[in-house]
Amino acid sequence: MTQQDQDSWSAVDDYFAPLAGEDDALVAANRDADAAGLPAIQVTATQGKLLQLLAQIQGSRRILEIGTLAGYSTIWLARALPADGRLVTCEYEPAHAAVARANVDRAGVGDRVEIRVGAGVDTLAALVEEGVEPFDLVFIDADKPSNPDYLAGALRLTRPGSVIVLDNAVRNGGVADAGSTQPDVVGTRRFVEAAVADPRLSGTAVQTVGSKGWDGFVLLRVQNA
Ligand code: SAH
Ligand code: DHB
Ligand code: MG
Repeated sequence: MTQQDQDSWSAVDDYFAPLAGEDDALVAANRDADAAGLPAIQVTATQGKLLQLLAQIQGSRRILEIGTLAGYSTIWLARALPADGRLVTCEYEPAHAAVARANVDRAGVGDRVEIRVGAGVDTLAALVEEGVEPFDLVFIDADKPSNPDYLAGALRLTRPGSVIVLDNAVRNGGVADAGSTQPDVVGTRRFVEAAVADPRLSGTAVQTVGSKGWDGFVLLRVQNA
């Protein structure tokens, strides 16, 4: 990827930004994340809106997110929910969770969002243990080596018809390198391998370019059989 490619991709993201409709609360969420020294690795506005549209098209009432950061993707997703809907989001870093709490509250979705601090695998195990109602949509966007564990957990916490979305599935093409020993790539490849092998899952991948470079999503639907 050249600088010229990146400039073009960013210009197109900027062009479509009004269609995605990032509002003041989302802009402020990123501003405060930056001020708190959090890494700027949140989804783009066009990607956030894609997540929101997927949740709305699917009729999601319960959403599970793994990897909150400052709550930017959380806000996009929570806004897809009806007033009595619920979003549970898992974050390892208490400092990230604190920024996210303030951001989701300011965005007006605080009543629908529960932030659970801890390792994602532990939180998923706790949710299984609690016997919570199945989630309609799961967005996986935390530590990539745990992606296979997050898929296994998601399968225990969903129902036929649920949707599972994985972020950062492409990472500049790294995912296609079968010989990679990079833990992020290995984790994502194991996730894909497990999805391919699982008859309960129907899936595809969407490559994206934009202001975050070349990346993509894996989209899965839990099938009836
Ligand atoms: N979904 C966010 C970005 C998440 S970045 C957005 O698009 O706005 C990834 C987040 O996962 C970081 O905040 C990081 O602290 C968190 N994380 C890392 N390891 C984790 C773990 N084991 N369990 C839960 N969260 C984890
Ligand atoms: C990283 C993590 C993400 O979830 C992302 O969307 C982009 C980058 C990272 O860890 O570098
Ligand atoms: Mg991500």
